Amino acid sequence: MEYNGPRFMVVNTSLSEEILELKKSRKAVILAHHYQIDEIQEIADVIGDSLELSRKARELDCEVIAFCGVWFMAETAKVLNPHRTVIVPDRDASCSLVESCPVGPIRNFRERNPGTAIVSYINTSVEVKAESDILCTSRNAVQVVNSIPADQPILFLPDINLGNYVKRETGRENMKIWQGACIVHATFAARKLTAARFEHPHALVVAHPECPPDVLAMADYIGSTSALIDYCVKSPAQEFIVMTESGVSHSLHKLAPNKQFYFVANDNCNCSECPYMKLNTLEKLRDALDTLEPRVELDPALMERARLPIERMLALK
Ligand code: 13P
Ligand code: SF4
Repeated sequence: MEYNGPRFMVVNTSLSEEILELKKSRKAVILAHHYQIDEIQEIADVIGDSLELSRKARELDCEVIAFCGVWFMAETAKVLNPHRTVIVPDRDASCSLVESCPVGPIRNFRERNPGTAIVSYINTSVEVKAESDILCTSRNAVQVVNSIPADQPILFLPDINLGNYVKRETGRENMKIWQGACIVHATFAARKLTAARFEHPHALVVAHPECPPDVLAMADYIGSTSALIDYCVKSPAQEFIVMTESGVSHSLHKLAPNKQFYFVANDNCNCSECPYMKLNTLEKLRDALDTLEPRVELDPALMERARLPIERMLALK
């Protein structure tokens, strides 16, 4: 249950140096999600949650964006930076939420329900984004739903737990929710969290809203990946049970070295790691910067349609 991973890493210096050299010659920036392995977070220019990384992707001065996260995040960066080259370390780094939500049924729903606003979580394919009215991330989902007129029905997709959390927070009754789930957060078990609370009675519980409702009901704080980190760092409490992917331990131990963080394993394995996020390695990042492959290539018309709902979300303050 306790995080036993390395606190002080042995960094593969020559590989990291090679990456930094390539980064310079390619005029590249490295963006990394909090769930990336420590070695990638160590050399990244920016580490963040999905909202921060999408905002950052727009502001950067570079020719190449090396996106260390999962494919839908790199697609989002490409849509916001159509003239830049966006590369990823591993093309197979997908997401169970994206896989749960193919575009065909969404198109059909839209045709049959033209008055319903489609609110899509950023964890969707670019094709689904293009069928959406507005995007959201775990950080701003409540705000996004509140921005839609109260009498307009909503289809929220694809995460059932985030959708139910938003529905509870907004009191919105006219909201249908897709039945997708994150294989990491949805498999946190309330009984394991209960055991962790017995073991660490002074710890506060922080949880990502993709967790099941019985886990969220025990949380002292619910928020996006970066919001959880900020909360733990700023809180006067010294101990935290962290119900999200264990990659956040990198920033937590850096920003709050004297605090204790406990991670609860998923019900189906001994860790709380996202298998998609962990496909990325330093070697694959080096190769991607060297060859500029795998690269995100998208149809310009599709990007144009997907950009609108993303821009609508980014325009919300
Ligand atoms: P964040 O929006 O918190 O970065 O979450 C993305 C994600 O994939 C969570 O599992
Ligand atoms: Fe997708 Fe879950 Fe992995 Fe996030 S942690 S990328 S939601 S599978």
